[in-house]
Amino acid sequence: MLPNFEQALKELEFQHLRRQLRIVESSSETTITIEGRKLISMASNNYLGLANHSALKQAAIKAINEWGVGAGAARLISGTMRPHQQLEEDLAHFKQVEGALTFGTGYTTNLGLIPSLIDKGGLILADRYCHASLIEACRLAKATLRVFHHNGQDHLEKLLKKRTKNTQTLVVTEGVFSMDGDLAPLPDLLQLCQNHGATLVIDDAHGTGVMGPNGRGTIEHFGLNPADVVQMGTLSKAIGTSGGYVAGTTFLKEFLINASKAFIYTTAPPPAIAAAASTALQVIQQEPGRRQRLWDNRNYLYSELRVMGFQLTNTQSPILPIIVKSSETALKMAQALDKAGIYIPAIRPPTVPKNSSRLRLTISSEHRKEQLMFVVKTIQKIQKELKLA
Ligand SMILES: Cc1ncc(COP(=O)(O)O)c(C=O)c1O
Repeated sequence: MLPNFEQALKELEFQHLRRQLRIVESSSETTITIEGRKLISMASNNYLGLANHSALKQAAIKAINEWGVGAGAARLISGTMRPHQQLEEDLAHFKQVEGALTFGTGYTTNLGLIPSLIDKGGLILADRYCHASLIEACRLAKATLRVFHHNGQDHLEKLLKKRTKNTQTLVVTEGVFSMDGDLAPLPDLLQLCQNHGATLVIDDAHGTGVMGPNGRGTIEHFGLNPADVVQMGTLSKAIGTSGGYVAGTTFLKEFLINASKAFIYTTAPPPAIAAAASTALQVIQQEPGRRQRLWDNRNYLYSELRVMGFQLTNTQSPILPIIVKSSETALKMAQALDKAGIYIPAIRPPTVPKNSSRLRLTISSEHRKEQLMFVVKTIQKIQKELKLA
C-alpha cells in the first residue's frame, strides 16, 4: 500500500505550507514570464546577472561544439575534460588557495565534503541556521552532531569546552546566511576554532562574487587567510551557472578525489557548464562595476524597507528578508505582489523556523532603478491594504 500522499498534501495546504512549482517561460532576468504574465523578479540568486551574460553563453556554446553535451562518465573514469581542469585552476586562483574540486551541485558538494572530513567518534558543531544541504551532510557523517545558537559564539565556546579532549571537531557555518542575509562572525569563529583545535568549514554559496573588495567572498570580506579554513561554494548563484566546489589545499583536493562519494560515484558535470563558469570568474574580475551596481541597488532597497518599518533581519548582504511571521500573511503578501506584477516568494517553515515566515527579496546588479522604485511603491500599498507593521 502506498502512503496517503493526498492526505499529507491536504494537511500542508491547511497549514499554508503546501509548495507548488510555477513554470517560468523566460530566462532568469530581472523580469520573468510566468503563465503568460511578465513579472519583476526579486527571487533569483543571479546576483550579477551572469546567467544571461553573452560571454558565458558564447563560452558554453563553443564548449558544446568542441566537447559535446555530456561528460559521459564520472571524473575518475573518463569524465575529466580540459574545461573541468581549467575551471578548478581558475577557482583556486580566484579563491587564492592551492586547489579546488568541483561537484555537480552545491548541495552535493556539502554531502561530499563533510562526511569525508570527519570519522565516527568526531564532533560536528553546526550553526542552527545552516542550509538544509549542510544539515543533511552533517547527519550523513558518522560523527556526533550538535547545533549551536545562530551566530552564538558563547554557546559554541561552551560546546567546545565541554567536549572530550582531543575529539576531532568541525565547526560548520555559512559566510552569508541564505535565508537571513546576515554574516557569520568568521574572525571570532576562527579564533575559537584555533584555540580549541577545531576546523572551521564555511559554506560561501551567497558570499562568492558578492562579498569582499574583489568579490572573492566572505573570507576576503573579513580579511582572513583562506589557508586557515575549509570553504565550499556554489557556481549557481553569482557565478550564474550550476555546480559547486571545495577550495583549499592540494592535499584536501587530492584527499576528496579519493574519499568523497558525491565526487567519485557520479558523472562529471557538463563540460560546457565548466567553461561558462570559468568565463564567469573572468567577468567578475574584469567588470567590478557589476558588484558596485549590486550594492547600490541593495543599499537603496534596504533603506526604503527600513523606512517602512518592517521587521528586517540583521542582513548585511543583497538578501533582504521581510519577516511577517505567519505563513498565511506571507502568502497573502506574495499573492498581492504577484497580482501587481512582482514576483517575491513567501518563505515558510521548514525552510525557516516556525513563526518567522517571510518575503525574501534578492537583488541583482541588473535591476533598474525604476523597477526597484515600483517594488517599493507596491510594497507600501500592500502594507497599508493588509494593515501590516
Ligand atoms: C547556503 C547554501 N548552500 C548550498 C546550497 C546549494 O547550492 P546549489 O543550489 O548549487 O545546489 C544553497 C542553495 O540553495 C545555499 O543557499
